[in-house]
Formats: sequence, C-alpha cells, structure tokens
Amino acid sequence: MRVARLYDSTVGKKAVMAATGVLLFGFVITHLLGNLQFYLGPEALNAYGRNLRHLGALLWAARLGLLAAVLLHISAAVQLWRLNKQARPSHYEKLTAAGSSYASRTMMWSGPILALFIGYHLYHLTLGAHLLHDADGFPLVYQNVVAGFSDPLASGLYIVAMSFLGMHLMHGIWSMFQSIGWNHPKYTPLIKRIAVLTAALIVAGNISIPVAVLLFHQ
Ligand code: HEM
Repeated sequence: MRVARLYDSTVGKKAVMAATGVLLFGFVITHLLGNLQFYLGPEALNAYGRNLRHLGALLWAARLGLLAAVLLHISAAVQLWRLNKQARPSHYEKLTAAGSSYASRTMMWSGPILALFIGYHLYHLTLGAHLLHDADGFPLVYQNVVAGFSDPLASGLYIVAMSFLGMHLMHGIWSMFQSIGWNHPKYTPLIKRIAVLTAALIVAGNISIPVAVLLFHQ
C-alpha cells in the first residue's frame, strides 16, 4: 500500500509529525480561547463546559481524533529519533547538539513531560472524583478551576508545564515551516519571531489563569 510505504519513509514520518502537530496546535489555541472565558465569570465558563457536552457524538469524535493525533505524533517522533540515532555514528552526537538550538534539543524530553502533564491535567480538571458537578451532572468548570489552582503546588506544576509547552511549540511551529520548505534568508528571521511570539502568547494566556486564581480568588 502506498500510504504504508510513505509512512515507512523519513519524509512520511515528518509529514505525520507536521500534520498531527498542526492539529494539536489548533487544539491548544481553541482550548486557550475556551479557558480564557474564565475571565467572563462562572456562568460563562460553566455554560461553555455544558455546551461542549451538548455536542454529544461530535465531542466524542473530536476527543478520539485528538487522542489519535497525540498517539501518531508520539509514535512518529520515537521512530524518527531511532532512525536518527541509527544513521549517526555516536561521535557525531556532540556536533549535532552544538549546532541545534536549545528548544530543538529539548524536544525529546519536553514531549514526554507534556504527555505526563496531560495525564495529570485530565485527572485534575476533567476526570478526578474530587471534581464538582451540578444537579444535572455537568461539571462546574469555574469552581473546579478555582479549587484546583488554589493549591500553589498544582499551580506551580502548571506553570512549569506551560514553560515546556512554550519551548515545544516554539520549535514545533518553526520546524513545521522548515518541513514545508519555508526557508528564505529574508523571511526566516520573521518566521522565527512569529514562532516565539505565538508560543509566548499561548504560555502567557494559560499561565495567567492559575496566577489569577492565586492572586484574586483565595
Ligand atoms: C493553565 C492551563 C490550562 C487550563 C486552565 C486548562 C483547563 C482545563 C479544564 C477546566 C478542562 C475541563 C473542561 C471541561 O470539563 O469542560 C480541561 C480539559 C482538557 N485539557 Fe486543559 N487546561 C490547560 C492547559 C492544557 C494544555 C496545555 C493541554 C494540552 C497540551 C490541555 C489539554 C486538555 C485536554 C485534552 C482536556 C480534556 C478535554 C475533553 O475531554 O473534553 N489543557 N482543561
């Protein structure tokens, strides 16, 4: 099969990384926009959580799509990393590290840290038995966010995880542009700046929520 053969190639795996990366990036932006409704107050945020659940089968399709994207992203990353290791004699490793940016060298551990964070985050704000629900069984998202981030340790964990997310996104956005061949002496510095700025805005928006809870909701 042609698709299977394409996936076997390095180019195919890079395409899978890029395509699933774009999907996950889209989720991170959408999720941030949803989370920022925290600033509109309890009614708005809780209504948002309720409306999402009213989507029913569509919500489950999105969740399964997201899970598939995460699994493909991780499996392509591990395979590319293995191929890269096989292709490169060990005495070249230092050379590669020196030539690559801090963000790109951290990709292979910012990724696993983010996967751990997502597991903790699902327990903390979506699945845990400690979470509050209204009489109809819909989550009281606002109250759960305030209770969750009132614990400075949990807030601290999120802030650290968001810094890793920032690094991961910065390099991810940048390498996606490289994969599609956008490498131009005039535009490359601009693309790098866009990658840094986008990642910084996402991190700042996300971090603002635990910080706001710690400062104003105690
Ligand atoms: C400070 C930052 C964040 C806050 C305040 C936050 C908040 C929340 C809340 C309140 C929920 C539950 C929503 C509901 O039950 O309707 C949730 C779910 C979720 N979050 Fe986050 N989140 C943050 C960062 C992230 C990041 C960075 C990721 C992924 C990289 C992420 C992935 C998810 C996923 C996958 C779900 C489950 C969605 C579902 O099953 O419908 N979150 N988040």
